[in-house]
Amino acid sequence: PRLCLGRDFFLEKIMSEISHNWLNSLPKIELHLHIEGTLEPELLFKLAKRNSIQLPFNNISEVKEAYQFSNLQDFLDIYYQGAKVLLHKQDFYDLTWAYLLKCQEQNVVHVEPFFDPQTHTSRGVPFETVVNGISEALADAKEKLGISSRLIMCFLRHLSEESAIETLKFSGQFMGVIYGVGLDSAEMGNPPEKFQNVFNMAKNMGYKLVAHAGEEGPASYIWSCLDILNVQRIDHGIRAIDDPDLMLRLIETQMPLTVCPLSNVKLRVFDSMKNHTILDMLDLGLCVTVNSDDPSYFGGYMTENFLALDDSLGLSKDQASRLIKNSIDASFAEEGRKQELFNLLNSYITNQ
Ligand code: HPA
Ligand code: ZN
Repeated sequence: PRLCLGRDFFLEKIMSEISHNWLNSLPKIELHLHIEGTLEPELLFKLAKRNSIQLPFNNISEVKEAYQFSNLQDFLDIYYQGAKVLLHKQDFYDLTWAYLLKCQEQNVVHVEPFFDPQTHTSRGVPFETVVNGISEALADAKEKLGISSRLIMCFLRHLSEESAIETLKFSGQFMGVIYGVGLDSAEMGNPPEKFQNVFNMAKNMGYKLVAHAGEEGPASYIWSCLDILNVQRIDHGIRAIDDPDLMLRLIETQMPLTVCPLSNVKLRVFDSMKNHTILDMLDLGLCVTVNSDDPSYFGGYMTENFLALDDSLGLSKDQASRLIKNSIDASFAEEGRKQELFNLLNSYITNQ
């Protein structure tokens, strides 16, 4: 019997290795990723030293210990504090490049990262320092790693609409590198309606529109994003499941939801991955996608998010490929690139 147990354990290890390899090599697309949320503790310390900034942590294990959150605000406090080590263009370049190397490792072939300009301009870091550092790394990734991208600028919803409008106006000179606008930070008490004017202005400037909604906030915030902000994607959106009429609307219009499984469990939106509803929503026909949100803070990048779904819910190859097909449909890549992405996915699936 001991021998048998050993053999089962061994087989299980091989099976899990096989699914890890399959999910890691599967071509993936990331549509919900805050670049400031990719700051790994090692880089945090390196930049703090480089920029002579005092951190409230003495070592990496103290940092990891601090990454226990009971809600979104808990996380945001630590996330904005971490961002203070980013001062110079090279810092933003290094941050973005480290993320893109991770993408290469995990076969993430198209990314649409968010950045929060107000987090930096409010500390006196010029807008162009931030955009240039990030966009130069994205351009290098296209050339050297074959990773395509669309950069999205988010407004912080805990700040005023005037501040968002000022940020939008400033962004006008970077319209070649910024492709869309989004809305993030503390959701409760900061409904989409607060940003109706700035989203309308952004639409008129030709930006694509997305917004976080239905992460901690109610399904009604998702309705407002659709009907008042006119967004093309909803970030998170998992509270839609509380509202059958909204579910029908999302299915009929194939409105994409950029869901972030590990984030949702870390921020206690779901008490465990076993209770996550993403695969139910997928099987009901919603255009749900898998994303990592703030991978340094939430325990993993794209592969780890897919693995977590597989471990807790059992993810079939068909479900995994439909999730990625949804991401390609939902992306802002140009049509030719979308076709390439579909071809990559299809040949991976059929050659397995
Ligand atoms: N929600 C809201 N704001 C954020 C998030 C999030 O998940 N990550 C970074 N800023
Ligand atoms: Zn987010």
